[in-house]
Amino acid sequence: STQKLWGGRFTATGDQYVDDFGASIGFDQELAAEDIAGSLAHVKMLKKTGILPAADVAQIVAGLETLNQRLRAGKLEFSTVNEDIHMNIEALLTAEIGPVAGKLHTARSRNDQVATDLHLYLKHRLPLILARLHQLETVLVDKAAQHVETVMPGYTHLQHAQPISYAHYLLAYYQMFRRDAERLTFNQQHTDISPLGAAALAGTTFPIDREYSAQLLGFGAVYHNSLDAVSDRDFVLEFLSNAAILMMHLSRFCEEIVSWSSYEFNYISLSDQFSTGSSIMPQKKNPDMAELIRGKSGRVYGHLMSLLTVMKGLPLAYNKDLQEDKEGAFDTVNTLLTCLHVFTGMLQTLTVNEQRMAHATTNDFSNATELADYLANKGIPFRQAHAIVGKLVLDGLRNHRTLQDIPLAEYQQISPLIQADVYHDLDAKVAVQRRHSLGGTGFDQIRAELDRARAQLAAT
Ligand code: ARG
Repeated sequence: STQKLWGGRFTATGDQYVDDFGASIGFDQELAAEDIAGSLAHVKMLKKTGILPAADVAQIVAGLETLNQRLRAGKLEFSTVNEDIHMNIEALLTAEIGPVAGKLHTARSRNDQVATDLHLYLKHRLPLILARLHQLETVLVDKAAQHVETVMPGYTHLQHAQPISYAHYLLAYYQMFRRDAERLTFNQQHTDISPLGAAALAGTTFPIDREYSAQLLGFGAVYHNSLDAVSDRDFVLEFLSNAAILMMHLSRFCEEIVSWSSYEFNYISLSDQFSTGSSIMPQKKNPDMAELIRGKSGRVYGHLMSLLTVMKGLPLAYNKDLQEDKEGAFDTVNTLLTCLHVFTGMLQTLTVNEQRMAHATTNDFSNATELADYLANKGIPFRQAHAIVGKLVLDGLRNHRTLQDIPLAEYQQISPLIQADVYHDLDAKVAVQRRHSLGGTGFDQIRAELDRARAQLAAT
């Protein structure tokens, strides 16, 4: 329509449903604070370089600051007449200070503007996500410290494999979340680059100072190619990939929380605060929060796939397709923040059924490797020891007895090398404690890893 900010070369008015389809204000108002910040930096640069007179800049700055206050007070109202957040802010500024507002867009385009907004948006939120991740890591380490000697079955193929410490299990997740934090920290590097001043795609004839506006916005660097500056969304894709991996970790953990709180496992119980009941079955206590976090990994994977697909055929430089970059990014930020918060609370308040975990390791054959190792230590080739123990396990399964139940006399018929100290080795706790190899589940290894983790947490 002709009253549009860009309406000069148009004669016919567009249909409402077409305008609605093209509008992004419904969601990009999330960028309002960043958009105003970007405009403030831009106009201050226009003053420093003498592109705009100081008096005009003073009016624009005052107007933008008024808008900022109204935004913070929740009193800034956006209208769909003005397509997106950039034109809404400009229209609001015009209403505030009159036609001088029109000078703000000198040497700038919505293309570098929206890219700047999105960089700022993520730059401001990555630290919030990292802080939540740090809280989760801290809770994991605290919990692990309480459970160094809590023994449970370790699994491969979800079959009892060898006994491990519950702390070792928790610290495995600590390592995963640590890598997530490293990836998100690196993500900050590619986010911390200013596209402002790339203008529509080719730069500008005005004598702008891109480094100055970047510095005002707290960016550590500027893009060195204007085409790349307006069309690069790698920093968002990196964020979505990192988020997808992080959600995968949360989802795996949640899967275990769901199984472990079942009647069959009964290794943990969730606090009431993080469980829900059933509208029909009075006995129910459901791990809804864990399931929901597991489920929410799906939308984050989806956002990554969406944006990769949006980007894959884009010719340089800006294309309207890029407007599709925002909703998934916003949703991912919000999903990560809430999932990390809820997950951390759930982990902090769940209780461990130590007896049940211990019982599961004393009435099984997860100490079979111990016996094989015992025989190997006495000089029997490991392969032969494996076969001997395999037969004993088969026999035990048939006769409902564990390896600890076999009398010494019987062991000595198998090999006179077996002495009474074999029962010590068959103890699950001993089996865990003795796994001293670097990164193993031995108690001393875990204590060393706890120290390392605490030092890492203190350093970040
Ligand atoms: N709403 C647009 C977006 O989100 C802002 C940039 C529009 N630029 C343009 N030339 N249509 O990408």
